Parts: sequence; C-alpha cells; structure tokens
Amino acid sequence: MPLNVIIAPDTASAFQQAATFLADHIRGAAHPVLGLATGRTMESIYALLVSDHQAGKLDFSQLTSFNLDEYVGLSPTDPRSYRHYMQEHLFGHVNMRPEHVHVPDGTASDLVAECAAYEAAIQNEGGLGLQLLGIGETGHIGFNEPPSAFDTRTRPVTLDDVTRRQNAAMFGGQPGAVPHTALTMGVGTILEARELLLVATGSSKARIVAEALLGPLTPDISASAIRLHANCTVILDHEAAAIWKQQKSASNL
Ligand code: F6R
Repeated sequence: MPLNVIIAPDTASAFQQAATFLADHIRGAAHPVLGLATGRTMESIYALLVSDHQAGKLDFSQLTSFNLDEYVGLSPTDPRSYRHYMQEHLFGHVNMRPEHVHVPDGTASDLVAECAAYEAAIQNEGGLGLQLLGIGETGHIGFNEPPSAFDTRTRPVTLDDVTRRQNAAMFGGQPGAVPHTALTMGVGTILEARELLLVATGSSKARIVAEALLGPLTPDISASAIRLHANCTVILDHEAAAIWKQQKSASNL
C-alpha cells in the first residue's frame, strides 16, 4: 500500500484524527503494543486520549507502550526527561499498568546493554503494533539524526545542534543546556512496527515534510524511510502540507 497522506481541514482536526487512529488501535488489537513519541506535536494528541479515558470511552489496562527515545543523563523524575513528559501528558492520567510502560533509561550505567535490552523487550511483546512518529527539523524520526542508516537499531546517538535548538524550550531556552546524547530506537526498529503513523503540523514542518515525502530516500533524512513501509499513514494540517502539495502538483504536470 502506498503512503496514505491525510490533510486535515485544520490543526485541531489533525490532532483529533491522530487520537482516533491511536484509540482505534488500543480498542481493536488483541494485544495492543504502541510505540510512542514525545514533543509538542504529541501533547494535544495525548490530551485527547486522556479526555476519552476520563469520559469512560478508552481503557488503557491492556496497552503496552515503548517510547522512541530519552536523553542520556536525565533521570525519570527530571522534569526535562521524556519519561517525565509521558507521566505528565499520558501515563499519569490513564489506567496503564506501570509494568506495561517502557521508556529507554538514559541513566543506565551501560547504555549499549540498555539499548539491547530495550530491543529484546519489544520482541518479547511480539513487536510494535503501531508506531507514532513526529518529525524533527533535521528530518529525524525518534532521535535518528542525519545520517542514520535505515537498518539502525536502538542505540546511543549524538544530537544534532539543530535538534538541540529545536528542543531548548524545556531547558530554559538554552540550546547549550540540552544533553548532547540520547538513546533512540533505530530506523530499522521503527520500520519493523506493523503500522506507522506520522503526524506533523505547522509551517515550520512544511519544508522537511516535503523533503521526507518527495525527496531522495536517504539516511540524511531518516523520516524518508517511512516510504519503505507497507502500512504508513501521515496526518498533516494545511500548513505542514503546503510545500508537499506544491511540489507534488508541479511534478504531476
Ligand atoms: C520525540 C521524537 C521526535 C519528535 C520530533 C518533533 O520523542 O521522537 O522525533 O517527534 O522532534 O518534535 P515536535 O513535535 O516537538 O516538533
């Protein structure tokens, strides 16, 4: 199946469609295993899932989750860590079982062993059913910065300066305070999920969305790898879709 690109009528409806997509997976799968992402894009999506749960419409008790990435050196209780982000935006508000929640441990004494154990834990659950993705300004999915080969696995990585600037808000607006290293699922790990959902909103994503969806398949834009997946949906608002739409219609002339 080719990439299924959905352009939502507005940003709120992009988030709503993404939340519905995830909720359908949680309700429909016999053993739901979700790969989760963090970042600004996901905040509204998680808020919608939390309100579904609070309205009694969505049960998380059978869900197992694996987050994409974590900063090295930040403890799970550090307000800037992705583990803490997940607690604030999702885990703390729904009935997930603590033992079903997985986020790479950026404080592990042996980071390579932690990554290998993370891969094994995903396999133990029968693999990822649906992987939720955002896209960074470098074209990364997870923290797969350029260049990230398409067969990479969960591993320690060095963050690009562009990403450290992109994520500075959580670090007092100081890119220099953003950790230099992180753990991330690899591109190969992500591609093994049975289904992918990438969500991007806003004009700041328009250029990189177009490059990822129409440019070369290249380790320099790890998001371009999603085009190799047999079951991938992309949900965009009009702003994020703008350059992709222009380039696509120009190439169809
Ligand atoms: C974070 C992650 C990243 C983000 C991307 C977009 O877990 O996997 O790839 O999805 O950097 O971040 P926002 O949504 O903040 O623009």
